[in-house]
Amino acid sequence: MTEIPKTYRVKSFGCQMNVYDGERMAELLGAQGMTAAGDGEDADLVVLNTCHIREKAAEKAYSDVGRLRREDGSKPIVALAGCVAQAEGAEAKSRSSLIDLVVGPQAYHRLPDMVAEVAKGGRPVDTDMPAISKFGALPARRKVGPSAFLTVQEGCDKFCTYCVVPYTRGAEISRPFADVVAEAQSLVDGGAREITLLGQNVNAFEGGLDNLIRAIAKIDGLERIRYTTSHPADMSDALIAAHGEIDKLMPYLHLPVQSGSDPILKAMNRSHTAESYLETLEKVRTARPDIAISGDFIVGFPGEREEDFAATLAIVDAVGYASAYSFKYSARPGTPAAVMEGAVAPEVMDDRLQRLQARLAEHSLAFNRATVGKDTRILIDRKGRLPGQMIGKSPWLQSVFVETGARIGDMVDVTVTKALPNSLGGVLRDSKVAA
Ligand code: 5AD
Ligand code: SF4
Repeated sequence: MTEIPKTYRVKSFGCQMNVYDGERMAELLGAQGMTAAGDGEDADLVVLNTCHIREKAAEKAYSDVGRLRREDGSKPIVALAGCVAQAEGAEAKSRSSLIDLVVGPQAYHRLPDMVAEVAKGGRPVDTDMPAISKFGALPARRKVGPSAFLTVQEGCDKFCTYCVVPYTRGAEISRPFADVVAEAQSLVDGGAREITLLGQNVNAFEGGLDNLIRAIAKIDGLERIRYTTSHPADMSDALIAAHGEIDKLMPYLHLPVQSGSDPILKAMNRSHTAESYLETLEKVRTARPDIAISGDFIVGFPGEREEDFAATLAIVDAVGYASAYSFKYSARPGTPAAVMEGAVAPEVMDDRLQRLQARLAEHSLAFNRATVGKDTRILIDRKGRLPGQMIGKSPWLQSVFVETGARIGDMVDVTVTKALPNSLGGVLRDSKVAA
């Protein structure tokens, strides 16, 4: 028998949707009367909200579990949540005796019940993907920071051949339009000035992501809207047009391409070519000329030859990404690519990743440099390290350092004075804070 926990800690890894899920789990545990453990304090319940996207991330889940045993031999109640939980289910319990419960991303509304089962001596597993969504069973949103995430769509029907998401997050499903608008309103009531709409394929939102953005843009007090992550095949003309029409929609688009080589894109089952991707971006830039483009890349997909990789570098140059994430291909059990021939040697992958990242860094520095001398508005989201220094986000999602008496959540007008690879320096345009 274990006691019902009084304190909790939720640790989220991986994507922004996990951050969102982690917040909702924390709210759920809070609604049960538990309090968040302070920094450095032992928690009675630790929820590890894990990521399965690449092997390294998945293995990290287990090493983190191992670290939860305390020096005196005691341990918290350990909940394995997120995509590793979904992928491994009951198996996870045999991999580590420290794990008390396993809960998947579509079942975490049941976390309090499951913790109660653990207290009675059980070791429950719930990786169901029920037709009725968890969202209805979650408590209302509470106070949030200036920039909030909001899941509007989950899952993926695209089945890129390298990706575990269709298996861990399930089929594409959109939340009801009205529910999302209501949650956006409550986030703004709770202090949010920026909302990022989330989905594994957010632009496949039923009812049209452009319509949703238009509805949310009507909320007073909401200043900025973003969305991530998108599939090129779902960039509808209406969504592209929205970028030119809705002021609150920020000039930033994360549109993963993965590779610039058509044979590799075909083997990845991406349903676009390098050319069709570039055409889509052309339309986006016509609608919103100053838009910052961000992307995801995989190097070393099975069968990737040097000329395929050269095509990836070429598309990087053609697009001029403002920012990007790049990864070495990781074979994931159960995915079609895991059994494909033509494995790329690890040292070749390393070399390609390095060359790709160097090229991407040149482009992001160039993008940042192009903003020097410009006036812009930032949303302050954290303190800097120096006294009086604050950090805020530009419309193009750059971090801007500025000396100001403004507080977190303020919008501040700045002039950009300096560009670094991953951030900008700025000075106040005038001393007035636009609160
Ligand atoms: N190996 C490497 N990277 C991957 N991604 C998804 N699956 C894999 C994999 N098996 C990358 C893709 C995706 C991002 C979220 O993670 O680039 O867009
Ligand atoms: Fe994975 Fe492809 Fe779906 Fe993205 S679109 S989640 S990469 S299967």
